[in-house]
Amino acid sequence: MWKGRFAKDTSSLVQEFGESISYDWRLYPHDIAGSIAHARAQKTAGLLTPEEFSQIEAGLLAIRDDIEAGKFEFKASLEDIHMNVESELTKRIGAAGAKLHTARSRNDQVATDTRLYTRTEIELLLEALSGLQDALLDRAEKYAGTVIPGYTHLQRGQPVTVGHHLLAYVEMLERDKGRLSDARKRLNISPLGSGALAGSTINLDRRAIAAELGFDGVTTNSMDAIADRDYIAETLFAIGLCGVHLSRLSEDLILWCTAEFGFVVFSDAHTTGSSLMPQKKNPDVCELTRGKSGRLVGNLMNILVAVKGLPLTYNRDLQEDKPPLFDSIDTLKLILAVNTEMIAAMEIREQRCLAAASDPMLLATDLADWLVKQGVPFRHAHELVGKAVAESVQSGVPLDQLDLTKIDPVYTEDAKSVFDLQRALAARTNPGAPSVENVKSEVARWKAKA
Ligand code: ARG
Repeated sequence: MWKGRFAKDTSSLVQEFGESISYDWRLYPHDIAGSIAHARAQKTAGLLTPEEFSQIEAGLLAIRDDIEAGKFEFKASLEDIHMNVESELTKRIGAAGAKLHTARSRNDQVATDTRLYTRTEIELLLEALSGLQDALLDRAEKYAGTVIPGYTHLQRGQPVTVGHHLLAYVEMLERDKGRLSDARKRLNISPLGSGALAGSTINLDRRAIAAELGFDGVTTNSMDAIADRDYIAETLFAIGLCGVHLSRLSEDLILWCTAEFGFVVFSDAHTTGSSLMPQKKNPDVCELTRGKSGRLVGNLMNILVAVKGLPLTYNRDLQEDKPPLFDSIDTLKLILAVNTEMIAAMEIREQRCLAAASDPMLLATDLADWLVKQGVPFRHAHELVGKAVAESVQSGVPLDQLDLTKIDPVYTEDAKSVFDLQRALAARTNPGAPSVENVKSEVARWKAKA
């Protein structure tokens, strides 16, 4: 738009190649807020008259309204949101508009806009994460006493409850929230005033601008402020890891809804059928969550690799920061919304859970613990119980029905008392263990926190 040293127009191919307006248009509320704060500081510095400032402010707000109403025509020839807004402003208000870019560059502008955007979106993600935690808590409370096998290596290990299993994800999501909040804290400083890379000879009140935009302070090195994208990488890491957590939850639920496990039933509203096999009821939400989490991890790699080889300061490569940022945020929002709805409505098949949890092998470790309580060293106890397990496997007699006294004299009749599932669970009372009492008080603790 401003020709200056160029005698020729930009090739249309280069325009097409270089535009970012097709995706960065969505930064408009932040771009406009940043421009208003910048203009106010220009007025304070005596660079704009109060009338000029009012014209700029009203012009920018009118542009914002037009964008919101879908009445604004974005032009790829103007490359990005910053130039689209500024050029339209100048077209609408004339001379005052042409003063707006004093002591500012698109480099500090874009860093400001993406920080503001990321801050806003992190707040929405935190709320959505709490919503999913609430849905998990609700199910955990309902099924606090529903025993299932806990697995290692996807082999039955020891008894836990559905409540305990679901609360594990509440914990993970809480740490995801912590990571996002940390990222928000670090990113919430204002780069405006860093200019293209070396500040400006015209000193505006950076702190006043920062305060108006809700930043906690100002960046302290102009080169760092416009060159780094660590705040995007951090956010994408927090989102990627959250995606990994939700992918694992999806995988658990996919297993749980098979005929083989049969622990969970999803509402018809959250499953799909097969175009060929009439009996099918597929857990597509879980599968897509697992699949989309791959994109979230990919987006993190995308930003890291894009920034890796760049000399200071701004390089046009950095324009590529936004597609992965937007995609990860949009994707996680959708994942959270749909999973919250699905989990709130899912039902656990308690009889199937109980049947699976009634496998006496789940209490083999408890039997070893019983031997330890009789004074047998644990390694020896492990071996003794191993022998009983082998005997059970060979003979087909369930572990809890073997005559243990025949295996070793250290066993007494009382040994069999370990095969009481409810008792076994009730004994697991240490902090973090899955007794029903513990699970209930954990649910209460989480609910009180919210
Ligand atoms: N569209 C650019 C981006 O997203 C804005 C900054 C352009 N700066 C520049 N010196 N060309 O990064």
